[in-house]
Amino acid sequence: MRRYSRITGTGSYLPPRRLSNAELAAELAENGVETSDEWIVERTGIRFRHFAEPDVCSSDLALHAARSALQAAGVAAHDIDLIIVATSTPDMVFPSTACILQHKLGANGGAAFDVQAVCSGFVYALAVADSMIQTGAANKALVVGAEVFSRILDFKDRTTCVLFGDGAGAVVLEASDTPGILASDLHADGKHVGILCVPGHVSGGAVLGDPLLKMDGQAVFKLAVGVLESAARAVLAKSGKRESDIDWLIPHQANIRIMQSTAKKLRLPMSKVVVTVDQHGNTSAASIPLALDSAVRSGQVKRGDLLMLEGVGGGFTWGAVLLNF
Ligand code: UT7
Repeated sequence: MRRYSRITGTGSYLPPRRLSNAELAAELAENGVETSDEWIVERTGIRFRHFAEPDVCSSDLALHAARSALQAAGVAAHDIDLIIVATSTPDMVFPSTACILQHKLGANGGAAFDVQAVCSGFVYALAVADSMIQTGAANKALVVGAEVFSRILDFKDRTTCVLFGDGAGAVVLEASDTPGILASDLHADGKHVGILCVPGHVSGGAVLGDPLLKMDGQAVFKLAVGVLESAARAVLAKSGKRESDIDWLIPHQANIRIMQSTAKKLRLPMSKVVVTVDQHGNTSAASIPLALDSAVRSGQVKRGDLLMLEGVGGGFTWGAVLLNF
């Protein structure tokens, strides 16, 4: 009998410090950086973001989200045999945030590693965990997206610092006789490395290059709307489903205008799109599992719904996962 994987529990966590656009704008103004609630809402749809305290790392946010997902799934931490953490803001250069999370959870012994695909990270991690469960390499996986993007923001650059926030989301993915995950589609095009990057690295005890985020927003925007449509069409074709079969589109939460454009291309009304960008900002790899958990807990997403998860971001990377929840 064919093995599939199925999400059996979701969880998420946001650090308590929540800033409105007006509060952020007032803080930025103290450093001579001019922005406004009007600009941020009109261009992005963002109204709030959460920032972690300086001593809080991605693994701390991941721990809260993971515990919540385990509780929802009714799975004990020691039964997890695979942990994948999608993050671009790891606790350390090494070891992986997944290993640190594994120890904090008391889930020691299974495989644990990070996936670095920036804002596509959660979709990449979910597809990898699904493959490992299908082949029998794992039975019960914890797939997490966790970020402290506030650490890599240049608060003198108004074109990027108003966009991002911190947070974590997690799912428990278990082996199942019935799908579960129906299809996934992952891509990257490394020629676009420069349009969204943190171009620094550690060398000889110092950071060489610039350790803060750089983005050509318009170039990312244009690429994103194209690849989100093609990835969605690819997973629909692989699974023999139609656009009209989708109950919920859960895209990476970067900009409401990108989400509206994707929904239009897929002929989906916005009432079928899970939107949390207004509340969370762009939390990179955490945005999709945060949106999923929020929609599950609010009662929007129900068992049996067909979900289209889609990520896009630095690399350039993009991908989609279609699943029966
Ligand atoms: O997570 C990975 C994926 N990332 C994304 O998907 C991000 C994709 N890109 C975007 O979402 C949008 O391109 C942005 C939100 C980043 C920018 O929106 P835009 O509509 O492309 O604005 P723009 O870059 O064309 O800037 C328009 C104007 C400029 O002024 P001028 O040249 O027209 O006078 C900017 O200087 O807005 C100005 N501006 C701002 N004004 C107030 C840029 N940032 C700000 C700001 N506050 N924070």
